[in-house]
Amino acid sequence: MTKPTVWISRPFFPDIVDRLRPHFDVRAETEERKFAAAELAARLAVADAAIVGLAERIDATAIAAAPRLRFVANLGVGYNNLDIAALTGAGIGASNTPDVLNETVADYAWALMLAAARRVGEAERWLRDGQWHGSRFEGWLGADVHGRTIGILGMGRIGQAIARRAVGFRARVLYHNRSRLASAIERECAATYVDKATLLASSDHLILVLPYTPENHHAIGAAELAAMKPTATLVNIARGGIVDDAALARALADGTIGAAGIDVFEGEPAVHPGLLERQNIVLSPHIASASRDTRRDMATLAVDNVLAAFGHGPHAGQPPTILNPGVLADAS
Ligand code: DGY
Repeated sequence: MTKPTVWISRPFFPDIVDRLRPHFDVRAETEERKFAAAELAARLAVADAAIVGLAERIDATAIAAAPRLRFVANLGVGYNNLDIAALTGAGIGASNTPDVLNETVADYAWALMLAAARRVGEAERWLRDGQWHGSRFEGWLGADVHGRTIGILGMGRIGQAIARRAVGFRARVLYHNRSRLASAIERECAATYVDKATLLASSDHLILVLPYTPENHHAIGAAELAAMKPTATLVNIARGGIVDDAALARALADGTIGAAGIDVFEGEPAVHPGLLERQNIVLSPHIASASRDTRRDMATLAVDNVLAAFGHGPHAGQPPTILNPGVLADAS
């Protein structure tokens, strides 16, 4: 019997990919690249399963070019690149990588918050530029994080992991979420629910952990930035498009807010030129989940889902993090 084909859109850990080989004809890309629609269609045309990243948009058009496709595993917890309704309608299962990255992304949110508030990137650029000939006592003044108010917009599992870290900093945590958390979780996270206006006005450091949805498009735009403290730090480790990048560039330039730490961008890998011009922003190339262990865990989970969807591995028949369980692609 011929093996089904799995297409892997980006190179990752060969030993993890090897787990697929006994059961699949593996077609793995050997370099990181962006596929034009026709290239994506050509690859999906022969695929029974696909492991994709955020750059691959699997929508009705892509699905129409994929007559054999039974399962799509997304390498990421956010799956706004997948049209789940269209996939479900076509009987194609889909999975993401929740939970395995919560703590790593929470670490990184704190890294960006601390770096932006304490001007780490800006100071390092200055030092590397050979400008350190002496230090002014009043130079490089930043904003404290300890003992301050940290706001979290979007309080899922990553938001909760961010909140728990605040205890050691003796910081107060406010949050806003579509729905309020159970009081036991609020207590465990020492987090207080407030409305969005209070969150914007009260946070010394505001961290965005929302999923990207049409409703969350530009959840932080010019009006929201104007409602923040002029000394505030904004951190986005969620998705590009949640922040209006042009409005953020203006807010950083005119002192509407103090600083930003941004890992995700509208139209990434392109970055708004107005953000690149600013010194009071720490920029990183969408790496919040990129620790050695967590990227391996994400890859393992994606592979486990594909194996399970085709009746193999420890979860045979039950992809562990399937997003549309009604479909249960039994292509074995
Ligand atoms: C995620 O897991 O959603 C990361 O942002 C990678 O896309």
